[in-house]
Amino acid sequence: MSLGAEALAAGIAARQRSLVEGLKSWVEIPSISTEPARKADVQRSAEFLRDYALKCGMTTAEVWPTEGHPTVFAERLEDPSWPTVLVYGHHDVQPVDPIEEWEAAPFQPLERDGLLLGRGTADDKGHLLMHLETVRGILDTRGRLPINLKLIAEGEEEDGSDHFEATVRSHRERLRSDVAVISDTSMLAEDVPGLTVALRGMAYWEVRVRSSRTDLHSGVYGGAVLNPIAILADMLAGLHDARGRVQVPGFYDAVRELSAGERQELAQVPFDEGGFLSEVGAIAGGEAGYTLMERRTTRPTLEICGIWGGYQGEGAKTVIPARAAAKLSSRLVPDQGAAQITKLVGDHLRQAAPPGVEVEFELIHDGRWVETPTSHPAVDAAALAVASVWGRDPVFIREGGSIPPVATIADELQVPCVLFGVGLPGDHIHAPNERVVLRQLFRGMQALGLLWDAYSELGIDGLGVRPG
Ligand code: BES
Ligand code: MN
Ligand code: MN
Repeated sequence: MSLGAEALAAGIAARQRSLVEGLKSWVEIPSISTEPARKADVQRSAEFLRDYALKCGMTTAEVWPTEGHPTVFAERLEDPSWPTVLVYGHHDVQPVDPIEEWEAAPFQPLERDGLLLGRGTADDKGHLLMHLETVRGILDTRGRLPINLKLIAEGEEEDGSDHFEATVRSHRERLRSDVAVISDTSMLAEDVPGLTVALRGMAYWEVRVRSSRTDLHSGVYGGAVLNPIAILADMLAGLHDARGRVQVPGFYDAVRELSAGERQELAQVPFDEGGFLSEVGAIAGGEAGYTLMERRTTRPTLEICGIWGGYQGEGAKTVIPARAAAKLSSRLVPDQGAAQITKLVGDHLRQAAPPGVEVEFELIHDGRWVETPTSHPAVDAAALAVASVWGRDPVFIREGGSIPPVATIADELQVPCVLFGVGLPGDHIHAPNERVVLRQLFRGMQALGLLWDAYSELGIDGLGVRPG
């Protein structure tokens, strides 16, 4: 390592503790975007991040209001002839239920054995502070960044990113950049570094069934009328066959099947199927003919996420309800479109209901899938940076989860997207006892230090070159 590189690594490492302390303070703000009662907390979270960005050396930091929750924008512009990197993350978090399963209070972060427990530590506040503390570490050492840096942190990623497209469109000039680095993903294990190269898209719906004007006495009417819960159960049961294939006509039409080579590549990725299931006590399911890894990353799904209807309280209530409903979602893969799939699933469900039964089908939110090239100069540089910090080449990961704003950034800003995240499968994101492995954040800081230097060396032209 050259002297300069050593000094930089030390300067960045000196910011590890401030990252942990900053993250503890921020995690105390319960920025749950899906809960209306938390609106002021999401606003406070945005203001915290804005102030934090300034403290770390960003020269501009603003809270951008949206019709939903606010987005934070920060930048530090060094030289217009240098490459400009746009970093994306989100400052909102998931709800905490079931609260009784948390070992420590979700918003009173607990540091233990190299972990930080708390809602949002991994998804996604830790990632954002990893970026900002890296900036601070570089500035402490060198006084300036080797690139121009912009950061955008959304406040409603966990709630469907309803206003992100409008935000990006109305600030297109300020967001102009040469490459986007998205930090909201995971690696496979601490010693198996990775870069994500694909995300599934999604569409989320609610279906409501009604078969009478009012609830009915189950003795007076029972046996003589249709029951909406039974109807809904039938409709849902008909969505898949016994081999796990979705039965909605046309559902698979746009799916781009993987080539034999791509399947082989995916099979090489170190992935412990047994451990993946046993860690959470789950039972393998899904589409016959595909490996577990393929099912969870390259195949589309149609899942039932919630169902309700009828009396739910204690004891008995002899009533046939008027209504029943369910929440459904699909994970979409190239080249499926959310609008197309919404139409197919909606039509199928309406047709599955007996005549006279009222069926409402509503799209709640959707997002496009993403594929990034595995051989773009911006990705190559990230792979090198990761390899030199983790001591091992990263594997390319196809992720089963979704980050709808990534497609928005790619489409609206026309920039290559690099998905660099340091989460781990055991982080329990969205679940009780979410945590982040601090060493992952610290290594991530070092990798970013190297990456910004690499982008600086490539220059704007070098970054823009697309292969082929
Ligand atoms: N960070 C996650 C996506 C993710 C999950 C990446 C697992 C890598 C590994 C993101 O915050 C998320 O939860 N996305 C939602 C999107 C939805 C709310 C529109 C998802 O995938 O369900
Ligand atoms: Mn996230
Ligand atoms: Mn999430």
